Parts: sequence; C-alpha cells; structure tokens
Amino acid sequence: MNGAIFYSGTYGSTEQYANWVGEATGLPVFDIKDASANPSKYEFLILGSSILYFRLTIGKWARTNLGKLNGRSKILFSVSGAGASAKLNRWVAASLPIELLTQIEHVALRGRLDHSKLSWWLRQVLWVGSLFNPDPQASKEEREGFDYVDKASIEPIIKMIQQYQATLATT
Ligand SMILES: Cc1cc2nc3c(=O)[nH]c(=O)nc-3n(C[C@H](O)[C@H](O)[C@H](O)COP(=O)(O)O)c2cc1C
Repeated sequence: MNGAIFYSGTYGSTEQYANWVGEATGLPVFDIKDASANPSKYEFLILGSSILYFRLTIGKWARTNLGKLNGRSKILFSVSGAGASAKLNRWVAASLPIELLTQIEHVALRGRLDHSKLSWWLRQVLWVGSLFNPDPQASKEEREGFDYVDKASIEPIIKMIQQYQATLATT
C-alpha cells in the first residue's frame, strides 16, 4: 500500500529513525523541508518530529498542510530528550491541531544531544535552562548531553505499519 514517512529534525536523530523505519517497511522517507514532497500523494502517513523547546518541530508544517495530512496521518513518532511521559504528551498535544491528534498513534522515541554540534549561544541557553529544570537527571542531561538513540525502539512502529498494511490489503 502507498504510504510515506515525513519527518522534521535538526541534528540527525529524527532523520536516522525515519530512515530506519523506511528501510524496515519499504516506505519512502521525506524531509518536510523538501518542497517537492507532497503528502497528499499517499494513502497513509507516518510523521516523525523532534521536540525542541517543549514543542514538536513539525507543528507549523502540520498546521500549514493540515488539508493534506487530515485523514491520512496514522502514526507520529516524537524524538526528544524526555522519555514517554505525561509532560511529553502535553507538548505533543500543544503542537498539533486537534484533528491530527485524534487520528494518530503517538510513539515516543528518545534522541541525542551532542553539545559539540551546537552553537556557543545554544549551549548557554541549555545551561541556563538546566538551572531551572526541576528534574535533576534532565537538568544534568541538558548540561552534559546524552545519546538514547536506539534502533530497537522503532519495533512498535514497524509492527503498527505492518498491521495497518495488512488491514488495507484485505479491504
Ligand atoms: C535547543 C534544544 C532544545 C531542546 N528542547 C527539548 C525539550 O524541550 N524537551 C526535550 O525532551 N528535549 C529537548 N531537546 C532534545 C532534543 O529533542 C533531542 O536532542 C533530539 O534528539 C533532537 O532531534 P534531532 O537530532 O532530529 O534534531 C532539545 C535540544 C536542543 C538542542
């Protein structure tokens, strides 16, 4: 069946996950920055997005392209420092139009923060943020970085896509 993965990321981990899901399922993978990629050409969509500053980076594009995404979007995978949690669900809910939220299954994946890839300015922003972060572990990770990228964590997404494809094949 005719589906595709559209992702939004900045530092490579969301792209890595999108490519792994693409390799495992055969679905084509598009960066949302690629203006020639048209979600309305596909019957179902997998959306992937990093979280920066408590919001999905795909949010603006999703609102702009709502007409093309509505009715087709099946899975959203988020990529963040925070793991699956109520606060992550709140960030996701605050980032997407309600129409999309009610049609997607959300899978939370964890990303990577490599300070050597950040500007001096961003490192200061994260350092100041860490001073106000009430979670000691998250605060340490903001200051020192982390790497939770894990190929095995895409398994639930692969299973959902396969189930979805099997259902479509019988209808
Ligand atoms: C400037 C900045 C802000 C971030 N804000 C958050 C955040 O609010 N919550 C969170 O869980 N992770 C946050 N992160 C961690 C990113 O979600 C994580 O690095 C992710 O892997 C980035 O995805 P990418 O590699 O595809 O760009 C932030 C990272 C940066 C660099």
